[in-house]
Amino acid sequence: MVCTVVVGGFWGDEGKGKIISYLALKDKVKIGVRGGVGPNAGHTVQYQSRVLKLRMLPSAAVNPEARLLVSAGVLVDPARFLREVEDLNARGRAGLDPNCAIIEPRHVEADRSSNHLAGKIGTTGTGTGPCNADRVQRRAMIARDVPELQEFLTDVALEVNEAIDRGENVLIEGTQGTYLSLYHGTYPYVTSKDVTASSICGDVGVGPTKVDEVIVVFKAYVTRVGQGPLPGEIPQEEAERLGWAEVATVTGRRRRAAPFNFELARRAVMLNGATQAAITKLDILYPECKGVRDYDKLPAKAKEFVSKVEDTIGIPVTILGTGPEAMDIIDLRREA
Ligand code: IMP
Ligand code: MG
Repeated sequence: MVCTVVVGGFWGDEGKGKIISYLALKDKVKIGVRGGVGPNAGHTVQYQSRVLKLRMLPSAAVNPEARLLVSAGVLVDPARFLREVEDLNARGRAGLDPNCAIIEPRHVEADRSSNHLAGKIGTTGTGTGPCNADRVQRRAMIARDVPELQEFLTDVALEVNEAIDRGENVLIEGTQGTYLSLYHGTYPYVTSKDVTASSICGDVGVGPTKVDEVIVVFKAYVTRVGQGPLPGEIPQEEAERLGWAEVATVTGRRRRAAPFNFELARRAVMLNGATQAAITKLDILYPECKGVRDYDKLPAKAKEFVSKVEDTIGIPVTILGTGPEAMDIIDLRREA
């Protein structure tokens, strides 16, 4: 697989963390590197009955051999970064780029007290928008200037490009989802930067010629938190009945829900230049799929759904999630 980028195809919360944790274990990834916005993301990974909610470190953390890097484009909340390093006992394998901009308490305060951001847009209140604004104004502090972070500083772009050149498996982890992109999403109900695959690579400092695979992750139904359009949105009671009612990792807010959106999925494939797609939570749509790890054992209607997705989006659906555990996966990729 060599260099793979993983991005979200809807509004975040597609289950990228779960797909990445599987790939990190299965493909023996050498480096997991985080692109994207910052601690507004919450990636849930579950492995060997441990549930981790990661907001700074890459989800490749489930593989104890993987180097865990945070790239220059990512905003860093130093307290949260240090806490995750401690929680995961990741000192020695965690690193961040000296150019990461730093979220300060005033950014969080500005995010939460703004009627526009917290109210109209419905942000996560983690300070990422105001921090990115300061970065554009060139007055944000960067990791290079923070004493507590010195031991973690490393040239992330160099580490990643050298690993790619050695032919090692590298996973570049996106955050949020295609329709939260500042450029390609449902503006103004979006996050504070582009989050499609090209920008995720730009965050890291990996050029387009170095990427082998782009995996776009879809959930078997669509959710979004915060304000903004959600085509086909269903009432909360119906979401509960279907098992689609979810609570957001970062904010604890209820996620709004809608059925799988084939047209948006097709467009997400285009915007990300995706070469493969993953579908998570197939077991929520079809409970008989729970824990199934063999395609042939899927019920016919689940197979029909996957075929319909494939026919619409025009790229192969290669990975299916059938439960919360990292290894609850059907892997249809050709043997590497
Ligand atoms: P911000 O990124 O905190 O500024 O929030 C802007 C919009 O993006 C809001 O609708 C948030 O709910 C949404 N958002 C940001 N990060 C995530 C995420 O990781 N998952 C889902 N929604 C997100
Ligand atoms: Mg999330």
